[in-house]
Amino acid sequence: MSQNYSPGLEGVTAGISAVSEVDAERNALCYRGLDIHDLVEHCTFDETAFLLLHGRLPSPGEYGDFLQRIAGQRNPPPEVWEVFARMPASTHPMDALRTAVSLLGTFDQSGSSPQALLAQAERLYAQVPSLVVNGYRILQGQPIVEPDTQLTHSSLFFQLLRNARPAPHEEKALRTTQILYAEHGFNASTFAARVTVSTLSDLYSGVVSALGTLKGPLHGGANEAAIAMLLEIGSADNAVPWLEKALAEKRKIMGFGHREYKQGDERARIAKKSALEIAQRNGFEKWSEIAEKVETEMWKRKGLYPNLDFPVALLYYALDIPIPLYTPIFVMSRITGWCAHIIEQLGSNRLIRPQCQYNGPRNVSFVPMEERKAPHAE
Ligand SMILES: CC(C)(COP(=O)(O)OP(=O)(O)OC[C@H]1O[C@@H](n2cnc3c(N)ncnc32)[C@H](O)[C@@H]1OP(=O)(O)O)[C@@H](O)C(=O)NCCC(=O)NCCS
Repeated sequence: MSQNYSPGLEGVTAGISAVSEVDAERNALCYRGLDIHDLVEHCTFDETAFLLLHGRLPSPGEYGDFLQRIAGQRNPPPEVWEVFARMPASTHPMDALRTAVSLLGTFDQSGSSPQALLAQAERLYAQVPSLVVNGYRILQGQPIVEPDTQLTHSSLFFQLLRNARPAPHEEKALRTTQILYAEHGFNASTFAARVTVSTLSDLYSGVVSALGTLKGPLHGGANEAAIAMLLEIGSADNAVPWLEKALAEKRKIMGFGHREYKQGDERARIAKKSALEIAQRNGFEKWSEIAEKVETEMWKRKGLYPNLDFPVALLYYALDIPIPLYTPIFVMSRITGWCAHIIEQLGSNRLIRPQCQYNGPRNVSFVPMEERKAPHAE
């Protein structure tokens, strides 16, 4: 094996970025130099989106202009709804979303100048809540809801879902998770997006790669898998026996562990506070009790902490959000980080093309077709 080989690229520095800084030793995360605690405490999600896409927080004038630009682009082209309507009703919203973003790319011929890329990123950011929720509505056989252009990103999600504005505490809880989900260095989906555009492919192709990568349960799909696990456990009394069996079977416990954070994920700590508040307020204490037991037991048995997806799963369940929308909500947020990285990659591009170590057979003799046998043929 090559001395440089690191399975899963663990510990490998694969690029340079000014979008966010993950400091696993201090359990700290900053977007463009700003700590996530400050962003969660003081910012709307739209301000955070501006920060990631434009590199700094907006002035009041810039923020007003940004909101106006976003409000004017909330509706995707109507052809997208026709495509959703032709998908099987069982389509997972992440697959539907990946297809929709690919389709949007065919409507956009604006090219890849820095200005065009930023405009494309803002347009996708504006349209993704409607793609997520109205796309899901169509798959469910429900009519689409017109986006209320006065609303922030976080409120808009609820308005589209319920056809009514959310209560302030609901908006705040969702906004907190959206800020925490927005960006996270060279995570798998962001890296996939950067690899894609490093060939000088377009922004939409980068986002499609990222969507396909986020979907898996070892990445963004973990929030859906984590709630499925809590539902399967079903009662606080069953948490320890369930976990014992699952670990004996060498199952991965969804929402636990992290490649970078070995001493706990600060994002999870922040989200847990919101999750417990909402669970208590909405009568979901049974589920927070199960989650607490799982968390304690995972620490005792494996020394593993929850990652962000674990408290988020509880929180979204307590907010009565349909489970297939958990990972798409992640997209409504991470679209900002993805686009910031795509723009950064294209701003000083070099093709990303690592090596692999060959471990297959060598010196195999050629056998003509008529003399070849299938491996198990007598
Ligand atoms: C996130 C994750 C993919 C990181 O993986 P990684 O850095 O490659 O770490 P590994 O999978 O090699 O795990 C290292 C060890 O911890 C164990 N481990 C890690 N996460 C675990 C989990 N969630 N449940 C049970 N064991 C876990 C592994 O089995 C392995 O043990 P071993 O050395 O005895 O074989 C992994 O922790 C995981 O699968 N978590 C569950 C999915 C999840 O929540 N994803 C969202 C991430 S934000």
